Amino acid sequence: MKQNIYDNAVFFENYKALRENPINYNELMEQPQMKSMLPDLKGKRVLDIGCGMGDLSMYCVENGASSVTAIDPSSNMLQEAQTRNAHSAIEYVQTSIEDAVFAKERYDIAVSSLVMHYVANYDKVIHSIHSALKDDGVLLFSSEHPIVTARKAGKTWIEDEEGKKLHFAVDDYQEEGRREAAWFVDAVVYYHRSFSTLCNGLLQNGFSLIDVNEPIPDDHAIAQLPRIAHELRRPSFIILKAKKTAHLY
Ligand SMILES: C[S@@+](CC[C@H](N)C(=O)[O-])C[C@H]1O[C@@H](n2cnc3c(N)ncnc32)[C@H](O)[C@@H]1O
Repeated sequence: MKQNIYDNAVFFENYKALRENPINYNELMEQPQMKSMLPDLKGKRVLDIGCGMGDLSMYCVENGASSVTAIDPSSNMLQEAQTRNAHSAIEYVQTSIEDAVFAKERYDIAVSSLVMHYVANYDKVIHSIHSALKDDGVLLFSSEHPIVTARKAGKTWIEDEEGKKLHFAVDDYQEEGRREAAWFVDAVVYYHRSFSTLCNGLLQNGFSLIDVNEPIPDDHAIAQLPRIAHELRRPSFIILKAKKTAHLY
């Protein structure tokens, strides 16, 4: 079983604390935008890739999905999911998306919130999701934005002597691949891909792109968490919505 940073005790405790306080980037910005882009869930079979603690899986069931297959490689995350978001219509499965084996054309909708930047082989994963979706099935995923993942020396703002943010550092944009940055612990691994690679991975694997969103915070979010206003200067996330429109041979 492929392991990941979410099974590191220090990382996990910090991440859990971050998500337990609803004043965070996910709840104020990324999740509302993702949910607003979901297709009608009524009676649909959903695949939740990298379900984490299962909140989005539960949202899908509460909004009419007939079943959710929720996959994640992390024991810690799945343990939380079983505790917080157990439901007879949700099946939690411990696997990475790379190792998962799906029945062909089983799902109407595949969702994935902030997981794709942990995936090393994006093209292969998109191909496998395509095969698991029915015709006209929808894939909706969010990822860290290429502007943020680009720089090899890490994600950072350039600041003046007083700590005022002058601009965000973008570099190494066309050099795709593995990156490391400190987040709760040292050297968390993720992968940088350009915007064109994200789109072409879909277009070349039988999907049509139907929506692209670079979430921005609304006034409510800024009032709750003033520093989220920096998202107006550079986006942290990108959300892509695509439909399976072609068969691959
Ligand atoms: C930022 S969390 C997001 C969790 C959940 N989707 C949410 O929005 O609350 C990223 C999740 O991706 C999972 N993950 C990392 N690599 C993965 C992979 N290769 N396949 C599937 N899930 C993965 C992690 O275990 C973690 O639960």
